[in-house]
Amino acid sequence: MCGIVAYTGPQDCAPILVEGLRRLEYRGYDSAGLAVHTGRGVEIVRAVGKLTNLDQALRKTPLAGTTGIGHTRWATHGRPSEANAHPHVAGAVAVVHNGIIENHVDLRRELQGKGVRFSSDTDTEIFAHLIHAEMQSGIKELDVAVRRALARVRGAYAIAVVHGEQPGTVVVAKQDSPLVLGLGEGEMFAASDIPALLAHTRDVILLADGDMAKITTAGAAITRIADGAPVSRDKKRIDWSPTQAEKGGYKHFMLKEIHEQPRAIEDTLRGRIDLDKADVVGAEIGLTEEIAKATGRVYFVACGTSAHAAMAGRYWVEQLARLPSTVEIGSEVRYRDPVFLPTDLVVAVSQSGETADTLAAVKAAKAQGARVLAVANVLDSAIPRAVDGALYTHAGPEIGVASTKCFTTQLAALLLLAVYLGRRRGTLNEAEARRILDAAWQAPAKMRDVLARADDIRTIARRHMRAKDMLFLGRGTGFPIALEGALKLKEISYIHAEGYAAGEMKHGPIALIDEEMPVVVICPKDAHYEKTFSNMQEAKAREGQIIAVATEGDDEVRRLCADRVDRGSIPPPSGRGSMLVAADVIEIPPVENEVVPLLSVIPLQLLSYHMADLKGTDVDQPRNLAKTVTVE
Ligand code: F6R
Repeated sequence: MCGIVAYTGPQDCAPILVEGLRRLEYRGYDSAGLAVHTGRGVEIVRAVGKLTNLDQALRKTPLAGTTGIGHTRWATHGRPSEANAHPHVAGAVAVVHNGIIENHVDLRRELQGKGVRFSSDTDTEIFAHLIHAEMQSGIKELDVAVRRALARVRGAYAIAVVHGEQPGTVVVAKQDSPLVLGLGEGEMFAASDIPALLAHTRDVILLADGDMAKITTAGAAITRIADGAPVSRDKKRIDWSPTQAEKGGYKHFMLKEIHEQPRAIEDTLRGRIDLDKADVVGAEIGLTEEIAKATGRVYFVACGTSAHAAMAGRYWVEQLARLPSTVEIGSEVRYRDPVFLPTDLVVAVSQSGETADTLAAVKAAKAQGARVLAVANVLDSAIPRAVDGALYTHAGPEIGVASTKCFTTQLAALLLLAVYLGRRRGTLNEAEARRILDAAWQAPAKMRDVLARADDIRTIARRHMRAKDMLFLGRGTGFPIALEGALKLKEISYIHAEGYAAGEMKHGPIALIDEEMPVVVICPKDAHYEKTFSNMQEAKAREGQIIAVATEGDDEVRRLCADRVDRGSIPPPSGRGSMLVAADVIEIPPVENEVVPLLSVIPLQLLSYHMADLKGTDVDQPRNLAKTVTVE
């Protein structure tokens, strides 16, 4: 998730671009750069690290001109470095890009075969060479060259392109990554997100997937990428304050990030699933066939939310790859005398890639000769740097301290890992792999359906916001989701909550249940439905207030939960939503077992969020917590 900005107009553009990038720094900040039409062609300045470094570089090498593009990077392909920072250049072409090109390996190979020399490890540089090649072949118009180049590319992109011989023109295009045009008086802007534009204009056009635009001081000519046909898009007036705009109009970053999950999952799966072969692309997930075949045990290490994702990963590895598997908490591993084997594949799951306890466990594993794979969200962070291979989640920067989109992207990445291991080891046949991968690829659309019910969940949150304690129960992969639901609630609402395996309830926690105790039961129609349902009946028989996460149309769950709401002091909501929540039942669409956790965690994230927000706690920065824990 990077940020891009573009400008053409009468003003000196470098300060406008840098200020725009500053407003997008929340999208990524490992390097930044500008390309400006200076009259001598397009010149670039780039710097590693935060924007202040780019500011300093521009003080040394000022770029004067009135048309330019800028970029702030969150690395996905190629470590953070000046060479990998955008803009990327080929001949007179300069490009900035946000997104992921799926067929980058093939295109790079093809271009190298034609004698092209790459100066970075990025997928983005491919755009620059493809566009340059089109211009070299005699195409005169930059937008035509961009359109022809895009026809070669598969994946997600928002790009902005300038050319040394076409002053006053910026060409932008978008597919599956955001891009907004800003309409000024005799000047035009483009950016990944609205905050970058608000200092200059409140009139914007949100480009649709498949749109491109040639922007000049005269305005924007919007066409379809596919065939060049002109399209018209409505202008919108934005009334948000700059702070609201940074949060995409949401009240908190956490809520914005919850809603970003479908996009984050798509980006994490993109280019890694080969549906034709019903397989996962090993090179994209940091593993090889040899390692997969030589692995005798998968040993997950992680902390907190990442440990919950690892627990779901263990279920999948056992089920799909038939490998013994264990999950250990980083802080425990480091102070035990753990036994690692040379045939262990240690999988260190850490969104920050910096957690001290997980890193220490990784070092212990390496010292004993185990092979280690990192599953991390931050490219080139300490854990991926210390290990043999990395499987990056593409959640983009997460600002809310309580992890949401990093968690679900970890789940998606670990499901890919399990499928890859299963296919290499012959324990997962083609039809089964296709079923699972297909379900994973469809999951973001179903997640959007769950998110559309967010307002109904606030009504349930209001009913329970005064609870002192809550229980979360689940079976199978529902168990780590129960743990995660309880952790989210504790973190941001400060309500005491415990997650339990549903079958464990009768071994103790059932003593806690009375009419004061809300019990959240994750009871989708999965392999464990009947058993979990009877646990729910047990809780109900002790007068517990059940909040169920169930599959759409499950009338039995609804009947079981119904009478409590009838007795509640707040009437059930009216209209369409009342069908969904009248009985404290939050429905998720029916999906294959393996992707249920991606959906069932969303109601729990939203429940925690709304309970915390209603209580008025600091949702994005809860007390006593830090986003990255680099101490013991
Ligand atoms: C909770 C949360 C933490 C982290 C834990 C490990 O919302 O985010 O529990 O999961 O501190 O951090 P990482 O994943 O960076 O290793």
